[in-house]
Amino acid sequence: MKKIESASLIDLNTFGIEAKAKLLIHYKTEEELMQLIESDIMVNNKVLHIGGGSNLLFLNDYDGTILHSEIKFINIVSENDSTVAVQVGAGVVWDDFVAYAVENGWGGIENLSLIPGEVGASAIQNIGAYGVEVCDVIKEVHAINLKTRVKEIFNIHDCKYAYRESVFKLELNGQFAITSVIFELQKNPAFKLNYQHLESQVLQNGALTLSNIRNTIIAIRESKLPDPKLVGNAGSFFMNPVVSRIQFENIQSNYPEIPHYYVSTELEKIPAAWLIDQCGWKGKTVGNAGVHHNQALVLVNKGGATGAEIAHLATLIQKSVFEKFGIQLTPEVNFI
Ligand code: FAD
Ligand code: EPU
Repeated sequence: MKKIESASLIDLNTFGIEAKAKLLIHYKTEEELMQLIESDIMVNNKVLHIGGGSNLLFLNDYDGTILHSEIKFINIVSENDSTVAVQVGAGVVWDDFVAYAVENGWGGIENLSLIPGEVGASAIQNIGAYGVEVCDVIKEVHAINLKTRVKEIFNIHDCKYAYRESVFKLELNGQFAITSVIFELQKNPAFKLNYQHLESQVLQNGALTLSNIRNTIIAIRESKLPDPKLVGNAGSFFMNPVVSRIQFENIQSNYPEIPHYYVSTELEKIPAAWLIDQCGWKGKTVGNAGVHHNQALVLVNKGGATGAEIAHLATLIQKSVFEKFGIQLTPEVNFI
């Protein structure tokens, strides 16, 4: 276990915001976490659990204890001819697990290649990309209640997954430390390549294999999204809004080219990137915060931005999208 007082968080959030935590603790095992929960450090302070910091926006210094899991293991817990169940520690880097699965010929998460962050947070955020959500392959989430120390196992129904949503973001927000996740992967996978032109892009690069799908997705992502090591960002700043069919058709009558995704007979999803782009924000800068020149949904730190500057830009964007389209954008990023 490593404890650091007055710790800089600049390397622990991909926005690269300079903020400090009163105390930062990296723990390596469930037993260490159990000891911490009983100690004064936790009882007398507010607590935030972080992963790789790729979906956090620090508005201020954190006047409490920040916990970070370094529980790292990948174990097969059961398998048969068609599936393999793999338990993965919360502290494993998500994309390392994807690479491991692809190397072993296990399908199901290849479309989620190169998403930043760690395995614990993947199950909180219900990460998704290119037509796949991680809840499609989650079997169980193992977690410890930060107040009672009771260990609980959540099955897929308990997790209440929806688009970028889970029970851990809603009614159980901040109450549990995820310690590991069990995923069920396929030995003879059926590939999911319906997203936009994904299938033709994969075929341009070679055969329909797990590794070719992974490499194609990595190439697409690298062409669109800024690398947080070079430009501070947290991926999509807002979620894609889901609107009523009537509201969608009203907008479509003025903008026939509007991209959209069918959700149900009553609902349609609209890319927030398109809405923001239509408002003229792409490539714009306000103070030290900016809108990425290739992807209008990605807000970036132009250098030395504070969390407040990023949040201010986000508010300006929300206001103009609301004024033009009557749609209120909801942040995907967690404000701390
Ligand atoms: P953090 O940002 O550190 O934390 C996220 C939340 O989880 C916080 O509420 C935190 O308190 C909580 N948390 C973290 N670990 C634990 C734990 N062990 N126990 C309890 N609570 C915990 N997301 C997508 O869905 N799809 C994408 O395609 C995508 N692309 C991205 C591209 C870029 C360039 C970037 C920077 C981000 C992108 N994201 C994407 C967002 C981000 O990668 C995900 O939300 C990711 O799951 C966050 O993981 P993290 O470990 O960094 O979590
Ligand atoms: N578009 C614009 N202007 C832009 C960018 C995009 O008009 O600047 C339009 C394009 O027409 C495009 C559409 O928006 O067809 C959708 O764009 P893209 O395919 O880049 O996807 P997105 O909806 O912006 C979502 C996720 C991403 C995920 C990709 C791929 C959300 C909020 N974002 O982005 O997730 O990687 O799809 O599946 O759902 C994240 O959550 O951080 C994230 C990056």
